[in-house]
Amino acid sequence: MSEHPDPWSLASAAVYQAPDPATGAIAPPIHVSSSFQYDAEIYQEVVAGARETVNIYGRCGNPGERLFQDHLARIEGADAVLATASGMAAVTTAIFGLLKQGDHLICDWTTYSSTHEFLAHRAPDFGIETTFVDMADEAAVRAALKPSTKALYFEAIANPTMKVVPIAPLAALAEEKGLVLLCDNTFASPAVLRPLEHGVDLVIESASKFIGGHNDVIGGAIALKAGRLPVDFLDRLRWNTMVKWGAPIAPFSAWLLDRGLQTLPLRVERQCENAAALADFLAEHPAVSRVCYPGRPDHPQHAVAKAQMPRFGAMLAFDVGSEPRALKVVTALKLASFAASLGGVRTVTQIPGTMAFLDIPEEERARMGITPGMVRISAGIEAIEDLKADFAAALATLEAAEA
Ligand SMILES: Cc1ncc(COP(=O)(O)O)c(C=O)c1O
Repeated sequence: MSEHPDPWSLASAAVYQAPDPATGAIAPPIHVSSSFQYDAEIYQEVVAGARETVNIYGRCGNPGERLFQDHLARIEGADAVLATASGMAAVTTAIFGLLKQGDHLICDWTTYSSTHEFLAHRAPDFGIETTFVDMADEAAVRAALKPSTKALYFEAIANPTMKVVPIAPLAALAEEKGLVLLCDNTFASPAVLRPLEHGVDLVIESASKFIGGHNDVIGGAIALKAGRLPVDFLDRLRWNTMVKWGAPIAPFSAWLLDRGLQTLPLRVERQCENAAALADFLAEHPAVSRVCYPGRPDHPQHAVAKAQMPRFGAMLAFDVGSEPRALKVVTALKLASFAASLGGVRTVTQIPGTMAFLDIPEEERARMGITPGMVRISAGIEAIEDLKADFAAALATLEAAEA
C-alpha cells in the first residue's frame, strides 16, 4: 500500500488524502469501535486467512490506523508501514519480531536512552545480545560481527550529540552479510531523511515527535523496504508480535498522526531553518563552549550529513559548562519550553545528561559525548528573532549571576 503518487512532490503527497468512500468527507473519520460486525462473507474471508483487509477487533487493526499507515508509507517511500502505540513499541516490536534467542545485534552506542536500556538490560533476559559500537566507524562494526549477528541498528541523527552515521557502508555490509539494517529516524523525520532510499530495511519512527508535530499524541511506526526482508514482513510482525504484545495505536492517535503528516514538510522546513539560525547564534555567544548541529562545518560528521540529507534537521544542542548553568538557562527561557520530547511546533529544551539519559551511567554518558552542561533544543516554528531574543536573555542571566 505504498505506491507513491508520482509525480507528486513530498509536500503534495503529504497533503493529499482520498475522500472517505462512505461519505465523501475529505477529512477522514475516526472509528472508535473496538469490534466490527461479521457477515457470512467476512467470516469466510477471515477463515481463509485474509485478515489484513478485514476489520475484526481494535487490537488487530483499525480503519484509521490503515489510513495513517498508507499515508506514512507514501511519505517514507516504503512498501509497508506498521503503526504502533508508541515509538518504544515500534522499537521493541521490531527487535522481538526480528531476533530470537541466541541472536546478536550491533547497535550504535549513542541511541535514545530507553532503546539503549532495553537492548543492554532487557533483551538479554530473552537471549538477545547486543554489542554497542561507534557505527560511524565501519571497522568497529566489522570487528563486532559474530556468526550470530542478525541486524544492525542506528539512529539517523543521534540524541543528543546529533551524530550522523554514514548509511552507505552499513547498507553495503548488511547486503554482504545478509543482515537487517534498522534506522531510528525520529530525530530527522522523513521530511529530512528517507533512510529506505539509502539501503535501510526497517525505519523506526517515534511518531510522537515530528510526525505528530504538536506535542499532543504518542505513537510509533515501522516502515519497510522489501529486499532483504520479504514484503509481507510487517504483516507477520503485526500478527506474531505486535498483536500479541498488545501495542496497537489508538484510533484518535492514528487520526492525529495522519493529520500531522499533512503539514510535516512545511513545519519541518521552518523548524530546520530556525535550528540552523539558532546554532549559528549560539556558536557566537561567549557563554557557549560547544554547539552540536550537523549543519555547521564544525560538526564532526558535517560532510556525511551534507551528502546524506537534504536538510540538517531541527535538533541541536549547546554546552554552557555545567548542569547548574544549564538549568539556569532553560528555566529563564520564556518562549521556549523546558520539557520532555521534541519535534513539535513549539521550541522545547531539555538537559539530556540528567533528563533523558539519567539512567545511563556517567562514564557511558561521557563516551556518548553527553556533558552535564549540555542543553538540547528542538526548534519550533516561532519567529527566529523572538527565539534568538529569548535565548540571549536566558544566557544573559548567567553573566548577571557571575558578575
Ligand atoms: C530517538 C527516539 N526513538 C524512540 C523514542 C521513543 O518514542 P516514544 O516516546 O514515542 O515511545 C524516542 C523518544 O524520545 C526517541 O527520542
